[in-house]
Amino acid sequence: MTKVTFYGHACFTLEKEGTTIIFDPFLDGNPLSPSKSEDIKADYILLTHWHVDHLGDTFKIAKKQGATVVSTFEMAKACEARGMKAHTMHLGGKHSFDFGYVRVTPAFHGSGIPGGHACGFIVKFFDHIIYHTGDTCLFSDMKLMGELEKVDLAMVPIGDNFTMGISDATMAVEMINPKVVIPMHYNTFPVIECDPQDFKAEVEKATESQAVILAPGESYHLSL
Ligand code: NI
Ligand code: MN
Repeated sequence: MTKVTFYGHACFTLEKEGTTIIFDPFLDGNPLSPSKSEDIKADYILLTHWHVDHLGDTFKIAKKQGATVVSTFEMAKACEARGMKAHTMHLGGKHSFDFGYVRVTPAFHGSGIPGGHACGFIVKFFDHIIYHTGDTCLFSDMKLMGELEKVDLAMVPIGDNFTMGISDATMAVEMINPKVVIPMHYNTFPVIECDPQDFKAEVEKATESQAVILAPGESYHLSL
């Protein structure tokens, strides 16, 4: 069983058999997160882009715990240059790790670092396939992602303004076709306020997927 915990915004951990992955560790500055960076133990940090609401506490967690940062070239190199362990990847690349593998997916968004590229991740974490789209607009190759990988769990942004909003995110779910979807990137700041129940209602009307809304600090057990 994989334990998936939401910390608000785009920050999640996946935990199983003593291995922990954290996506976009925005904790200390995250008004929604009940946990702080010092509460988190992680082996890998999967970083989608360098904006402060995603980079978050990457440096603290990577330096204190020796966690490996996995990201696209410029971001991974910038972490290495600051003395952190990093694994450099890029769009379309797949690499095996002790928990399974990581496939780097495109995301249409600024990287926040010169020459860099924002991304999403499809992770095979032990027995499950998890797709964290990162900050992105809707794009039709999400259908391709759903064909490349049988996604058990997707995390998609719904807060609009900087990313997809609820109706675009519903189309994303239709294309990815995950068993379960958890909405993210909403209600952290006034400009991305929305009601995740509206997303759940739209998804469950339009698709076969189940939408699970997690309060910050709450966990979901993947046992599909
Ligand atoms: Ni961003
Ligand atoms: Mn963001």
